Amino acid sequence: MRGKKIIVGVTGGIACYKAVGLVSFLKKSGHDVQVVMTENAARFVAPLTFRAVSRRPVCSEAFAPGDAPVPHIALVEDAALFVLAPATANTIAKLANGLADNILTTSFLAAQCPKLLVPAMNANMYANKLTQINLQKLRDSGCVLIEPETGYLACGTQGTGRYPDNQVIVRKIDELLGLTEKLRGKKILITGGGTREPLDSVRVLANNSSGKMGLALAEAAEQAGADVVYIDASAYDVQGLQEKIAEHFAAVDVLIMAAAVADYRAARVSPVKIKSGQERLTIELTKTADLLKYFAGQRKGQYLVGFALESTALRENAEKKLKEKGLDLIVANAVSALGSNESTAILLDKHGKIETLELLPKIKVAEKIMERIAADMHG
Ligand code: CTP
Repeated sequence: MRGKKIIVGVTGGIACYKAVGLVSFLKKSGHDVQVVMTENAARFVAPLTFRAVSRRPVCSEAFAPGDAPVPHIALVEDAALFVLAPATANTIAKLANGLADNILTTSFLAAQCPKLLVPAMNANMYANKLTQINLQKLRDSGCVLIEPETGYLACGTQGTGRYPDNQVIVRKIDELLGLTEKLRGKKILITGGGTREPLDSVRVLANNSSGKMGLALAEAAEQAGADVVYIDASAYDVQGLQEKIAEHFAAVDVLIMAAAVADYRAARVSPVKIKSGQERLTIELTKTADLLKYFAGQRKGQYLVGFALESTALRENAEKKLKEKGLDLIVANAVSALGSNESTAILLDKHGKIETLELLPKIKVAEKIMERIAADMHG
């Protein structure tokens, strides 16, 4: 679930060999890593080495991926991040001036994803005003830079220009990809989808919940490092769901009820299939247990999150539910979110803090919810 497409651009500096460790680590973390090398970089480390650790052909002047008619565009199209490590003074100068004279600089210019640069060079070259102006230009255009370290340099001198520890780069990459594990060590129970209440031996009372929000929450919670239990409510009636949640509740830190839980069930479930001969058929419904309210009464420090799907007066109704159910946080959605891949949302917490999210893919809404939970839990 962590896997993202990352382009690692390698330019020709003595620190090139250290980028092998970076690529290897990113690959082992589950990312899809595409290495792009300049000709000079290929003189320091053979492309075969990068090919072996990334398990993908390296893209260089001599080799472009697949049969793509415009390789530098195809290369960066669905990339989540472009990392340039090490970035030499020469390539930095080219990029700062928008030059595109090889596969690396061309694809860098074409990439629309976030970009991270790891300059590494001789201390005098790094301190040179021209290099500093170029780096500032790159910062101003939205690139993120990791400052080189100070210490012993390959040219035999001391100074600032050393390639940093790969773990420093990985931490920055995680941050840029939103993979910082803010919920590591937390157990989170998530319900999604809609419950199904039996009416007779074959028919059920169901709803249109697709379960997409629940699954997006599970993915975002895992990305944040949490230990996740996901319950698909469509496999249960309300009582069954209550029993399933109860199996896990005592051991979790957070319960997120994204499931659309039936508010009513049939007062009597016919043990046989109801015949279709009658002109009118009345089924008496009776209220189900409010699961969030029930678990709020059982809690021993668990953080409780509810959802509210409203046609009108979104905020007011959500606020009421937050209080009535004894929740820490409620996510209010408009009915239009049902079944869609996108959703707007208002996050309301028990302290009265309100955050309104614009229309976003559900995974992004889920990530924002995890950020809120993490911030609240860590005080
Ligand atoms: N919920 C629950 N137990 C129920 C019904 C709902 O725990 N029997 C939870 C849902 O999982 C959701 C929140 O409560 O997190 C929704 O609250 P609910 O009062 O059912 O509101 P809606 O169904 O959204 O709206 P309404 O009350 O207007 O039907």
